[in-house]
Amino acid sequence: MTDSLQARLADALKPIANPRTGASIYQTQQVRDIATTRDGKVRVTLLLAAQDDPTLARQVRQALERVEGVVDVRVDVKDASEPATPPAAAPAPAKAATRTLPVMNAEPAPRTPAAPTPVTYPKLGRILAVSSGKGGVGKSTVTTNLAIALAKAGHRVGLMDADIYGPNIPRMMGVDEAPPVKDDKIQPLQAHGVKVMSLGFLIERDQPAIWRGPIVMKIITQFLRDVDWGTLDFLFVDMPPGTGDAQLSLVQATSVAGAVIVTTPQEVAVGDALRGAKMFERVGVPVLGIVENMSYFESPETGKPMAIFGTGGGKRLADELKVPLLGEVPLYPPVLEGADRGAPIVVSDPASSAAKKLTAIALRIAQP
Ligand SMILES: Nc1ncnc2c1ncn2[C@@H]1O[C@H](COP(=O)(O)OP(=O)(O)OP(=O)(O)O)[C@@H](O)[C@H]1O
Ligand SMILES: [Mg+2]
Repeated sequence: MTDSLQARLADALKPIANPRTGASIYQTQQVRDIATTRDGKVRVTLLLAAQDDPTLARQVRQALERVEGVVDVRVDVKDASEPATPPAAAPAPAKAATRTLPVMNAEPAPRTPAAPTPVTYPKLGRILAVSSGKGGVGKSTVTTNLAIALAKAGHRVGLMDADIYGPNIPRMMGVDEAPPVKDDKIQPLQAHGVKVMSLGFLIERDQPAIWRGPIVMKIITQFLRDVDWGTLDFLFVDMPPGTGDAQLSLVQATSVAGAVIVTTPQEVAVGDALRGAKMFERVGVPVLGIVENMSYFESPETGKPMAIFGTGGGKRLADELKVPLLGEVPLYPPVLEGADRGAPIVVSDPASSAAKKLTAIALRIAQP
């Protein structure tokens, strides 16, 4: 039984070619370690070089899922540039690199990030990073709503998801498909009047973070350079939490016009946010201000505000940094519900006070 399943799996994999080399990923053993269980679970390893098209992982999974008798597929992506097996044993499917994400006719990125000179992209308008010290404070929520609010106000707005570890912009904006490629440029997807690009469109959801880490600079550069953003007034960049690779890569890749720091009122979030803000200041990116999110609870039934988290954290942080407190956004359950079904609050309930506050923050940021 297993033998014939193996044969069917091989048949499904053979036609898949690596667009970079044109060769079958099965024949070149780029996909390997094909393991099956009696009850139809399949596990394979896919070796991806940084220059390979990451959507290959999705293609492999989909091809295997269609095979008769398969109930579950897991694709483990391994970095081909760090051979797990001794180099001699590895076949040489991946020759010279020419492509990475679908377009990417990139010159090979330097292996050591020797402080690249930031490139200016005049067509992208003002590039604004939305960051925080701590995770889960509402960066992505704030970013999506600010972007949509400015689009509604008539600005040309892009939204780039730089959270390569947990991209959730696709879910929040309600778009998730492979972006089309035209004239060698990735076309961003459109949602709520905003052009959106996320690594989530291109990769397997469960792809291991180790594979993503080394290429974060590359991805950010390619998102800035190889995505057909057209002409924008604002490009919002949703960051992962903290002061890690993504923040550093972004400020090294391009000149960032400003950072918006999101915090919650609690001291611990504020302390982390302060460190996050200082990092931007150190590299010469102005902090435009602080958004205190989940400032207080607002009941959807009564509309009454309730301070349940302590108050003033955002204000203290703003004072300490000598930047404005841009606004205090309530914890309002419909914000979460809207995000979960791809309709941020400025779309799903523009009359709510949360939406109004977010819109006011957006308009304030948009001032020259
Ligand atoms: N003002 C709000 N009212 C109600 N729910 C909110 C509010 N802001 C954010 N949330 C919810 O809190 C959760 C975390 O928000 P979000 O994902 O935006 O945070 P984040 O800082 O981007 O997180 P991460 O660090 O994981 O990227 C989400 O489920 C979101 O819908
Ligand atoms: Mg987020």
